[in-house]
Amino acid sequence: MRFFIDTANIEEIREAWALGVIEGVTTNPSLVAKEGKEFTGLMQEIISVVDGPISAEVISLDSEGMVAEAETLAAMSPNIVIKIPMTAEGLKATKILTAKGIKTNVTLIFSLNQAMMAARAGATFVSPFVGRLDDVNANGIELVREIVAAFNCYGLDTKIIAASIRSVTHIAEAIKAGAHYATVPYSILLAAATHLLTDQGIERFLRDWQKLK
Ligand code: G3P
Repeated sequence: MRFFIDTANIEEIREAWALGVIEGVTTNPSLVAKEGKEFTGLMQEIISVVDGPISAEVISLDSEGMVAEAETLAAMSPNIVIKIPMTAEGLKATKILTAKGIKTNVTLIFSLNQAMMAARAGATFVSPFVGRLDDVNANGIELVREIVAAFNCYGLDTKIIAASIRSVTHIAEAIKAGAHYATVPYSILLAAATHLLTDQGIERFLRDWQKLK
């Protein structure tokens, strides 16, 4: 499984990029608003740091508006991936953008049917929201597993991003489910890289090393 960082915070993106683990970035309107910066300038900053897919979300609700926004965003860099909400209008926009050679990430996926339809419309990526399904007593990872099985069964190229990741357990479960990507907040990415026994092991090695003197 590959990793994206799920943030619009440029410092976190720089740190995560330096780790050598992430392949790209996903943002959404809430994450962008949290930064309090002008959208285009912020995307340009991210583009200057990350050489990989960068998902930027449109806010129009109609397909024409989505396509117009997408064209402006895509002109910023070949790395830009247009995040489109999973609606009927979003599907239309996905079809048009795919025909124009613009990559898409169909987001807010909460069912197998939605994932299959987004893939058929030509989505480059689909983003099932694991944590938000868990929030309503459904099983987010189970949905990821079902989408993986269905896409494999029908030979679809659309890549699956486990999104709305809330814990290190979600990451491990997404790996086991066969997700192509997980998009992970920075704090959870760091937590996934650490282990109590690693820290204790380093401490013991250093203690023993001191005995040499
Ligand atoms: O990748 C989608 C993500 O940003 C949503 O996460 O935690 O707001 O459900 P969350």
